[in-house]
Amino acid sequence: MVLLGETFPNFIAETNIGEIDFHKWLGDSWGILFSHPNDFTPVCTTELARVAKLFPDFQRSGVKVIGISCDSVESHRKWIEDIKAYGELSECEFPYPIIADKSRKIAVSLGMLDPAELDSNGLPVAARAVFIIDPKKIMRLSILYPATTGRNFDEILRVIESLQLTEKHKVATPADWKKGQPVMVLPTLSNEEAKATFGDTIKTVSVPSGKSYIRIVPQPTNAENN
Ligand code: BEZ
Repeated sequence: MVLLGETFPNFIAETNIGEIDFHKWLGDSWGILFSHPNDFTPVCTTELARVAKLFPDFQRSGVKVIGISCDSVESHRKWIEDIKAYGELSECEFPYPIIADKSRKIAVSLGMLDPAELDSNGLPVAARAVFIIDPKKIMRLSILYPATTGRNFDEILRVIESLQLTEKHKVATPADWKKGQPVMVLPTLSNEEAKATFGDTIKTVSVPSGKSYIRIVPQPTNAENN
């Protein structure tokens, strides 16, 4: 199983739009690979419709999105019509591909299977996994949800925004942070380094320990070099 900071493994996969080489398909983009237990199930339909609605936001952030389950290409193609109808999506093409991992090879190799959820043949189906992969193919986030809990894809977009910001600037984003809100100076930066980088914009929160580790600055913009 791949761990945070490791290279995400490549694979060849069947999808509703044809065969893909995963790394080639990603190219130089960020990527989100997310699995669902079964086609034609209610929670999965809400999730794939939500991702389709958010697709322009992922595109603006330079992120390619791809789904995966152990169902067939034919099943995906038929189910996509239901997702489009449920999500009141336009008649145009479904915006992202879905991998058909009938052999379960990819799901097994990525540790996606949920032993508690079995299909009609008694075989385990995929859990609700999400992997975020950066342009160097390094895995930057991994989450695994149970079949009965639909995911919050606004949160996945929020993580992408945080990862892309913290890649460029010496900051980290606090709990519930949203794009545009203040951020925290990295704890690895000394006060001198922080002052040199962020100047007088730093607000240090006073705490009983007397330590000055909670240092808040406005969110840096791309034009700034900090
Ligand atoms: C669903 O998508 O609704 C679902 C799928 C598998 C187990 C439970 C719920």
